[in-house]
Amino acid sequence: MIATKNGLEPWRFGVLFSRSGVTAGVETTQHNATILAIEAINARGGILGRPVEPVSYDPASDPKQFHALAERLLGRDRVRLIFGCYMSSTRKAVLPVVEAYRSLLLYPTLYEGFEYSPNCIYTGSAPNQNSVPLARYLFQHYGKRMFFVGSNYVYPYESNRIMADLAQQAGGEVLDEIYVPLDAGLQDFAKAVREIGRTQPDVIFSTVVGRSTSVFYEAFYRAGFDAGRMPIASLTTSEAEVAEMPPQAAAGHITAAPFFDVLNTPAAVRFVADFRVRFGDGAAVTAGAEAAYFQVMLIASAIEQAGTDEPEPVRAALADLEYAAPQGQVRIDPSNNHTFLWPRVAKLDAQGRFRIAWDPGVRTRPDPYCVDQRLDSWSWPDRPGPAVLPLASQG
Ligand code: ACM
Repeated sequence: MIATKNGLEPWRFGVLFSRSGVTAGVETTQHNATILAIEAINARGGILGRPVEPVSYDPASDPKQFHALAERLLGRDRVRLIFGCYMSSTRKAVLPVVEAYRSLLLYPTLYEGFEYSPNCIYTGSAPNQNSVPLARYLFQHYGKRMFFVGSNYVYPYESNRIMADLAQQAGGEVLDEIYVPLDAGLQDFAKAVREIGRTQPDVIFSTVVGRSTSVFYEAFYRAGFDAGRMPIASLTTSEAEVAEMPPQAAAGHITAAPFFDVLNTPAAVRFVADFRVRFGDGAAVTAGAEAAYFQVMLIASAIEQAGTDEPEPVRAALADLEYAAPQGQVRIDPSNNHTFLWPRVAKLDAQGRFRIAWDPGVRTRPDPYCVDQRLDSWSWPDRPGPAVLPLASQG
Protein backbone atom coordinates (compact mmCIF):
# COMPACT_ATOMS: atom_id res chain seq x y z
CA MET A 1 0.00 0.00 0.00
CA ILE A 2 1.37 3.46 -0.84
CA ALA A 3 2.17 5.78 2.08
CA THR A 4 0.25 9.07 2.33
CA LYS A 5 1.51 12.31 3.85
CA ASN A 6 -1.70 12.98 5.72
CA GLY A 7 -2.11 9.40 6.95
CA LEU A 8 -5.31 8.88 4.96
CA GLU A 9 -5.72 5.50 3.29
CA PRO A 10 -5.49 5.49 -0.51
CA TRP A 11 -8.48 4.70 -2.71
CA ARG A 12 -7.74 1.30 -4.27
CA PHE A 13 -8.82 0.74 -7.89
CA GLY A 14 -8.85 -2.78 -9.36
CA VAL A 15 -7.21 -2.87 -12.81
CA LEU A 16 -7.78 -5.89 -15.06
CA PHE A 17 -6.22 -5.66 -18.52
CA SER A 18 -4.15 -8.35 -20.26
CA ARG A 19 -0.49 -7.73 -20.81
CA SER A 20 -0.02 -11.21 -22.27
CA GLY A 21 -2.09 -13.39 -24.61
CA VAL A 22 -3.82 -12.61 -27.89
CA THR A 23 -5.12 -9.13 -27.07
CA ALA A 24 -2.09 -7.96 -25.04
CA GLY A 25 -1.30 -5.24 -27.61
CA VAL A 26 -4.49 -3.22 -27.30
CA GLU A 27 -5.11 -4.11 -23.63
CA THR A 28 -1.65 -2.86 -22.69
CA THR A 29 -2.65 0.54 -24.13
CA GLN A 30 -5.77 0.44 -21.92
CA HIS A 31 -3.76 -0.59 -18.86
CA ASN A 32 -1.24 2.18 -19.46
CA ALA A 33 -3.95 4.81 -19.97
CA THR A 34 -5.54 3.76 -16.67
CA ILE A 35 -2.19 4.19 -14.90
CA LEU A 36 -1.62 7.55 -16.67
CA ALA A 37 -4.98 8.83 -15.38
CA ILE A 38 -4.29 7.58 -11.85
CA GLU A 39 -0.87 9.25 -11.86
CA ALA A 40 -2.40 12.53 -13.09
CA ILE A 41 -4.99 12.40 -10.29
CA ASN A 42 -2.29 11.71 -7.70
CA ALA A 43 -0.11 14.54 -9.06
CA ARG A 44 -2.92 16.99 -8.41
CA GLY A 45 -3.43 15.76 -4.83
CA GLY A 46 -5.58 12.66 -5.24
CA ILE A 47 -9.32 12.48 -4.63
CA LEU A 48 -10.53 14.34 -1.52
CA GLY A 49 -6.89 14.43 -0.37
CA ARG A 50 -6.38 10.68 -0.72
CA PRO A 51 -4.15 9.17 -3.43
CA VAL A 52 -5.32 6.40 -5.74
CA GLU A 53 -3.51 3.05 -5.64
CA PRO A 54 -3.96 0.68 -8.59
CA VAL A 55 -4.28 -3.03 -7.74
CA SER A 56 -3.48 -4.64 -11.07
CA TYR A 57 -3.35 -8.20 -12.44
CA ASP A 58 -2.66 -9.68 -15.88
CA PRO A 59 -5.50 -12.07 -16.86
CA ALA A 60 -3.65 -13.15 -20.05
CA SER A 61 -6.61 -12.66 -22.47
CA ASP A 62 -8.35 -15.64 -20.86
CA PRO A 63 -12.00 -15.39 -19.66
CA LYS A 64 -11.39 -17.94 -16.84
CA GLN A 65 -8.50 -15.87 -15.48
CA PHE A 66 -10.57 -12.69 -15.75
CA HIS A 67 -13.28 -14.38 -13.66
CA ALA A 68 -10.82 -15.65 -11.02
CA LEU A 69 -8.94 -12.35 -10.76
CA ALA A 70 -12.17 -10.33 -10.46
CA GLU A 71 -13.05 -12.64 -7.55
CA ARG A 72 -9.62 -12.00 -6.02
CA LEU A 73 -9.90 -8.21 -6.43
CA LEU A 74 -13.36 -7.99 -4.88
CA GLY A 75 -12.99 -10.76 -2.28
CA ARG A 76 -9.39 -10.84 -1.04
CA ASP A 77 -8.19 -7.37 -2.08
CA ARG A 78 -11.50 -5.74 -1.16
CA VAL A 79 -11.52 -3.16 -3.98
CA ARG A 80 -14.93 -1.73 -4.85
CA LEU A 81 -14.37 -0.70 -8.45
CA ILE A 82 -12.76 -2.61 -11.34
CA PHE A 83 -11.44 -0.93 -14.48
CA GLY A 84 -10.93 -3.50 -17.20
CA CYS A 85 -11.77 -5.97 -19.99
CA TYR A 86 -11.41 -5.85 -23.76
CA MET A 87 -12.97 -8.96 -25.32
CA SER A 88 -16.69 -9.34 -24.68
CA SER A 89 -16.07 -12.93 -23.56
CA THR A 90 -13.96 -11.56 -20.69
CA ARG A 91 -16.54 -8.90 -19.74
CA LYS A 92 -19.19 -11.63 -19.65
CA ALA A 93 -16.89 -13.71 -17.40
CA VAL A 94 -16.36 -10.81 -14.98
CA LEU A 95 -19.94 -9.48 -14.78
CA PRO A 96 -21.45 -12.24 -12.58
CA VAL A 97 -18.66 -11.67 -10.02
CA VAL A 98 -19.12 -7.91 -10.11
CA GLU A 99 -22.88 -8.32 -9.73
CA ALA A 100 -22.53 -10.78 -6.82
CA TYR A 101 -20.35 -8.27 -4.93
CA ARG A 102 -22.57 -5.32 -5.97
CA SER A 103 -19.41 -3.74 -7.36
CA LEU A 104 -18.94 -1.65 -10.49
CA LEU A 105 -17.04 -2.62 -13.68
CA LEU A 106 -15.79 0.27 -15.84
CA TYR A 107 -15.56 -1.20 -19.37
CA PRO A 108 -13.65 0.94 -21.91
CA THR A 109 -14.12 -1.07 -25.10
CA LEU A 110 -16.41 -1.00 -28.14
CA TYR A 111 -18.73 -3.99 -28.13
CA GLU A 112 -21.77 -5.60 -29.77
CA GLY A 113 -24.43 -3.99 -27.55
CA PHE A 114 -27.58 -5.76 -26.35
CA GLU A 115 -26.47 -5.77 -22.72
CA TYR A 116 -27.20 -3.82 -19.57
CA SER A 117 -26.01 -4.39 -16.05
CA PRO A 118 -26.56 -1.92 -13.21
CA ASN A 119 -23.04 -2.97 -12.19
CA CYS A 120 -21.32 -1.99 -15.43
CA ILE A 121 -20.53 1.38 -17.01
CA TYR A 122 -19.82 1.02 -20.74
CA THR A 123 -17.50 3.77 -22.04
CA GLY A 124 -16.68 2.31 -25.48
CA SER A 125 -18.91 2.55 -28.56
CA ALA A 126 -22.29 0.86 -28.87
CA PRO A 127 -23.33 -0.31 -32.38
CA ASN A 128 -25.23 2.88 -33.27
CA GLN A 129 -22.00 4.80 -32.57
CA ASN A 130 -19.68 2.74 -34.78
CA SER A 131 -21.32 -0.05 -36.84
CA VAL A 132 -24.00 2.20 -38.31
CA PRO A 133 -21.70 5.13 -39.23
CA LEU A 134 -19.17 2.66 -40.67
CA ALA A 135 -21.85 0.95 -42.77
CA ARG A 136 -23.08 4.29 -44.11
CA TYR A 137 -19.54 5.30 -45.04
CA LEU A 138 -18.78 1.99 -46.75
CA PHE A 139 -22.04 1.81 -48.69
CA GLN A 140 -21.55 5.32 -50.01
CA HIS A 141 -17.87 5.02 -50.96
CA TYR A 142 -17.30 1.32 -51.80
CA GLY A 143 -20.52 -0.66 -52.19
CA LYS A 144 -22.87 -3.03 -50.41
CA ARG A 145 -21.56 -6.50 -51.27
CA MET A 146 -19.86 -7.50 -48.03
CA PHE A 147 -17.69 -10.39 -46.85
CA PHE A 148 -17.29 -11.06 -43.10
CA VAL A 149 -14.14 -12.46 -41.45
CA GLY A 150 -14.05 -12.70 -37.65
CA SER A 151 -12.49 -14.27 -34.59
CA ASN A 152 -14.47 -17.13 -33.11
CA TYR A 153 -16.35 -15.64 -30.12
CA VAL A 154 -19.34 -13.57 -29.13
CA TYR A 155 -18.41 -10.04 -30.30
CA PRO A 156 -17.77 -11.05 -33.94
CA TYR A 157 -20.97 -13.15 -34.17
CA GLU A 158 -23.17 -10.38 -32.81
CA SER A 159 -21.41 -7.50 -34.56
CA ASN A 160 -21.74 -9.39 -37.87
CA ARG A 161 -25.45 -9.93 -37.23
CA ILE A 162 -25.91 -6.16 -36.90
CA MET A 163 -23.80 -5.42 -39.99
CA ALA A 164 -25.76 -8.02 -41.98
CA ASP A 165 -29.03 -6.27 -41.01
CA LEU A 166 -27.60 -2.94 -42.16
CA ALA A 167 -26.43 -4.42 -45.50
CA GLN A 168 -29.87 -5.90 -46.05
CA GLN A 169 -31.56 -2.56 -45.27
CA ALA A 170 -29.39 -0.91 -47.92
CA GLY A 171 -30.24 -3.56 -50.52
CA GLY A 172 -26.79 -5.13 -50.24
CA GLU A 173 -25.73 -8.69 -49.40
CA VAL A 174 -23.30 -10.71 -47.30
CA LEU A 175 -21.39 -13.08 -49.59
CA ASP A 176 -19.91 -15.22 -46.82
CA GLU A 177 -19.08 -15.22 -43.10
CA ILE A 178 -15.92 -17.00 -41.97
CA TYR A 179 -14.61 -17.44 -38.41
CA VAL A 180 -11.03 -18.22 -37.42
CA PRO A 181 -9.54 -19.23 -34.03
CA LEU A 182 -8.64 -16.40 -31.63
CA ASP A 183 -4.94 -16.98 -32.16
CA ALA A 184 -5.20 -17.61 -35.90
CA GLY A 185 -2.08 -18.06 -38.01
CA LEU A 186 -1.56 -17.67 -41.75
CA GLN A 187 -3.08 -21.07 -42.61
CA ASP A 188 -6.29 -20.20 -40.74
CA PHE A 189 -6.90 -17.31 -43.15
CA ALA A 190 -6.27 -19.33 -46.34
CA LYS A 191 -9.95 -20.11 -46.94
CA ALA A 192 -11.04 -16.50 -46.29
CA VAL A 193 -8.41 -15.15 -48.70
CA ARG A 194 -9.36 -17.72 -51.36
CA GLU A 195 -13.08 -16.92 -51.07
CA ILE A 196 -12.47 -13.16 -51.12
CA GLY A 197 -10.50 -13.63 -54.34
CA ARG A 198 -13.28 -15.74 -55.86
CA THR A 199 -16.28 -13.60 -54.80
CA GLN A 200 -14.67 -10.12 -55.15
CA PRO A 201 -16.80 -8.27 -52.55
CA ASP A 202 -16.95 -4.46 -52.37
CA VAL A 203 -15.69 -4.51 -48.79
CA ILE A 204 -14.52 -6.95 -46.11
CA PHE A 205 -15.85 -6.39 -42.59
CA SER A 206 -13.24 -7.74 -40.16
CA THR A 207 -14.14 -8.60 -36.59
CA VAL A 208 -10.78 -10.29 -36.09
CA VAL A 209 -9.24 -9.14 -32.79
CA GLY A 210 -5.76 -8.99 -31.30
CA ARG A 211 -2.54 -10.30 -32.78
CA SER A 212 -4.23 -12.28 -35.60
CA THR A 213 -5.28 -8.96 -37.12
CA SER A 214 -1.82 -8.30 -38.60
CA VAL A 215 -1.70 -11.89 -39.93
CA PHE A 216 -4.99 -11.32 -41.79
CA TYR A 217 -4.03 -7.92 -43.23
CA GLU A 218 -0.65 -9.29 -44.37
CA ALA A 219 -2.29 -12.32 -45.99
CA PHE A 220 -4.70 -9.94 -47.76
CA TYR A 221 -1.80 -7.79 -48.98
CA ARG A 222 0.25 -10.77 -50.14
CA ALA A 223 -2.74 -12.08 -52.11
CA GLY A 224 -2.42 -8.90 -54.19
CA PHE A 225 -5.85 -7.44 -53.33
CA ASP A 226 -6.29 -3.70 -53.92
CA ALA A 227 -7.30 -2.00 -50.64
CA GLY A 228 -8.20 1.16 -52.58
CA ARG A 229 -11.00 -0.69 -54.36
CA MET A 230 -11.81 -3.46 -51.83
CA PRO A 231 -10.78 -2.39 -48.31
CA ILE A 232 -10.99 -4.22 -45.00
CA ALA A 233 -13.21 -2.24 -42.62
CA SER A 234 -13.17 -2.84 -38.89
CA LEU A 235 -14.07 -1.57 -35.44
CA THR A 236 -11.22 -3.47 -33.74
CA THR A 237 -8.22 -2.63 -35.94
CA SER A 238 -6.74 0.14 -33.81
CA GLU A 239 -3.32 1.80 -33.68
CA ALA A 240 -2.15 -1.18 -31.56
CA GLU A 241 -2.95 -3.82 -34.19
CA VAL A 242 -1.67 -1.58 -37.01
CA ALA A 243 1.66 -1.26 -35.15
CA GLU A 244 2.10 -5.02 -35.59
CA MET A 245 1.85 -4.96 -39.41
CA PRO A 246 4.04 -3.47 -42.16
CA PRO A 247 2.62 -0.12 -43.42
CA GLN A 248 1.97 -1.47 -46.91
CA ALA A 249 -0.36 -4.13 -45.43
CA ALA A 250 -2.28 -1.43 -43.54
CA ALA A 251 -2.62 1.17 -46.34
CA GLY A 252 -6.14 1.89 -47.58
CA HIS A 253 -8.02 0.01 -44.83
CA ILE A 254 -10.71 1.62 -42.69
CA THR A 255 -11.69 1.79 -39.01
CA ALA A 256 -14.59 3.48 -37.20
CA ALA A 257 -13.98 4.74 -33.64
CA PRO A 258 -14.57 7.87 -31.54
CA PHE A 259 -10.83 8.49 -31.08
CA PHE A 260 -7.73 8.17 -33.24
CA ASP A 261 -4.19 9.16 -32.28
CA VAL A 262 -4.13 11.79 -35.07
CA LEU A 263 -7.13 13.79 -33.78
CA ASN A 264 -6.18 17.42 -33.94
CA THR A 265 -7.99 18.92 -30.95
CA PRO A 266 -5.90 20.41 -28.11
CA ALA A 267 -7.22 17.79 -25.64
CA ALA A 268 -6.36 14.89 -27.99
CA VAL A 269 -2.90 16.25 -28.85
CA ARG A 270 -2.12 16.73 -25.13
CA PHE A 271 -3.35 13.21 -24.26
CA VAL A 272 -1.24 11.56 -26.99
CA ALA A 273 1.82 13.62 -25.98
CA ASP A 274 1.43 12.78 -22.26
CA PHE A 275 0.94 9.11 -23.10
CA ARG A 276 4.13 9.01 -25.19
CA VAL A 277 6.20 10.93 -22.64
CA ARG A 278 5.17 8.31 -20.06
CA PHE A 279 5.26 5.13 -22.17
CA GLY A 280 7.67 5.85 -25.01
CA ASP A 281 7.77 7.73 -28.32
CA GLY A 282 6.45 4.88 -30.39
CA ALA A 283 3.64 3.88 -27.99
CA ALA A 284 0.34 3.13 -29.74
CA VAL A 285 -2.54 5.26 -28.43
CA THR A 286 -5.97 3.74 -29.14
CA ALA A 287 -9.68 4.49 -28.71
CA GLY A 288 -9.67 1.83 -25.97
CA ALA A 289 -6.87 3.71 -24.20
CA GLU A 290 -8.71 7.01 -24.48
CA ALA A 291 -11.86 5.48 -22.95
CA ALA A 292 -9.75 3.82 -20.24
CA TYR A 293 -8.30 7.26 -19.43
CA PHE A 294 -11.51 9.28 -19.35
CA GLN A 295 -13.44 6.67 -17.35
CA VAL A 296 -10.91 6.98 -14.51
CA MET A 297 -11.30 10.77 -14.63
CA LEU A 298 -15.11 10.48 -14.57
CA ILE A 299 -14.99 8.09 -11.59
CA ALA A 300 -12.59 10.42 -9.74
CA SER A 301 -15.12 13.26 -10.09
CA ALA A 302 -17.96 10.95 -9.06
CA ILE A 303 -16.08 9.87 -5.90
CA GLU A 304 -15.35 13.51 -5.16
CA GLN A 305 -19.03 14.31 -5.43
CA ALA A 306 -20.26 11.23 -3.55
CA GLY A 307 -17.55 11.38 -0.84
CA THR A 308 -17.15 7.60 -1.09
CA ASP A 309 -16.10 4.86 -3.56
CA GLU A 310 -19.16 2.75 -2.74
CA PRO A 311 -20.53 1.66 -6.11
CA GLU A 312 -24.14 2.80 -5.72
CA PRO A 313 -23.45 6.46 -4.77
CA VAL A 314 -20.66 6.59 -7.37
CA ARG A 315 -23.04 5.42 -10.10
CA ALA A 316 -25.64 7.94 -8.98
CA ALA A 317 -23.06 10.76 -9.05
CA LEU A 318 -21.97 9.81 -12.60
CA ALA A 319 -25.41 10.74 -13.92
CA ASP A 320 -24.72 14.48 -13.47
CA LEU A 321 -21.13 14.58 -14.77
CA GLU A 322 -19.61 15.80 -18.02
CA TYR A 323 -15.91 15.35 -18.85
CA ALA A 324 -13.82 17.03 -21.56
CA ALA A 325 -12.26 13.81 -22.92
CA PRO A 326 -9.64 13.78 -25.70
CA GLN A 327 -12.39 12.81 -28.23
CA GLY A 328 -14.73 15.62 -27.02
CA GLN A 329 -17.17 16.19 -24.16
CA VAL A 330 -18.52 12.85 -22.84
CA ARG A 331 -21.12 11.80 -20.30
CA ILE A 332 -22.84 8.63 -19.14
CA ASP A 333 -26.49 8.07 -20.05
CA PRO A 334 -28.03 6.97 -16.72
CA SER A 335 -30.90 5.23 -18.54
CA ASN A 336 -28.57 2.55 -19.94
CA ASN A 337 -25.07 3.09 -18.37
CA HIS A 338 -23.50 3.65 -21.81
CA THR A 339 -21.72 6.83 -22.96
CA PHE A 340 -22.45 9.77 -25.27
CA LEU A 341 -19.57 9.60 -27.79
CA TRP A 342 -18.28 11.22 -31.03
CA PRO A 343 -18.36 8.78 -34.01
CA ARG A 344 -15.59 9.07 -36.59
CA VAL A 345 -14.21 7.04 -39.53
CA ALA A 346 -10.52 6.97 -40.51
CA LYS A 347 -8.50 5.44 -43.33
CA LEU A 348 -4.89 4.20 -43.10
CA ASP A 349 -2.33 5.92 -45.33
CA ALA A 350 0.81 4.51 -46.98
CA GLN A 351 2.80 5.08 -43.76
CA GLY A 352 0.25 3.08 -41.73
CA ARG A 353 -1.15 6.22 -40.04
CA PHE A 354 -4.84 6.90 -39.66
CA ARG A 355 -6.25 9.87 -41.58
CA ILE A 356 -9.69 11.08 -40.50
CA ALA A 357 -12.08 10.45 -43.40
CA TRP A 358 -15.41 11.40 -41.80
CA ASP A 359 -15.99 13.48 -38.69
CA PRO A 360 -19.46 15.04 -38.50
CA GLY A 361 -18.90 16.67 -35.09
CA VAL A 362 -22.04 15.11 -33.64
CA ARG A 363 -22.07 13.80 -30.09
CA THR A 364 -24.19 10.70 -30.22
CA ARG A 365 -26.49 9.21 -27.66
CA PRO A 366 -25.84 5.50 -26.98
CA ASP A 367 -28.54 3.09 -28.19
CA PRO A 368 -27.06 -0.23 -27.00
CA TYR A 369 -30.17 -2.29 -27.83
CA CYS A 370 -30.39 -0.79 -31.32
CA VAL A 371 -33.96 0.24 -30.53
CA ASP A 372 -33.66 2.34 -33.68
CA GLN A 373 -31.42 0.16 -35.85
CA ARG A 374 -31.79 2.15 -39.05
CA LEU A 375 -29.11 3.43 -41.36
CA ASP A 376 -30.81 6.81 -41.58
CA SER A 377 -31.18 7.45 -37.84
CA TRP A 378 -27.80 6.54 -36.43
CA SER A 379 -26.97 9.83 -34.75
CA TRP A 380 -29.50 10.29 -31.95
CA PRO A 381 -27.93 13.67 -31.12
CA ASP A 382 -28.36 15.05 -27.62
CA ARG A 383 -28.67 18.63 -28.71
CA PRO A 384 -31.04 20.47 -31.04
CA GLY A 385 -30.37 19.99 -34.72
CA PRO A 386 -31.07 17.50 -37.47
CA ALA A 387 -31.40 13.96 -36.15
CA VAL A 388 -29.98 12.56 -39.36
CA LEU A 389 -27.09 13.60 -41.56
CA PRO A 390 -27.95 13.02 -45.21
CA LEU A 391 -25.64 10.48 -46.82
CA ALA A 392 -24.39 13.16 -49.22
CA SER A 393 -22.86 15.18 -46.34
CA GLN A 394 -20.41 12.39 -45.48
CA GLY A 395 -17.07 13.52 -46.85
C1 ACM B 1 -14.95 -6.90 -28.07
O1 ACM B 1 -14.89 -8.13 -27.91
N1 ACM B 1 -15.86 -6.18 -27.41
C2 ACM B 1 -14.02 -6.21 -28.96
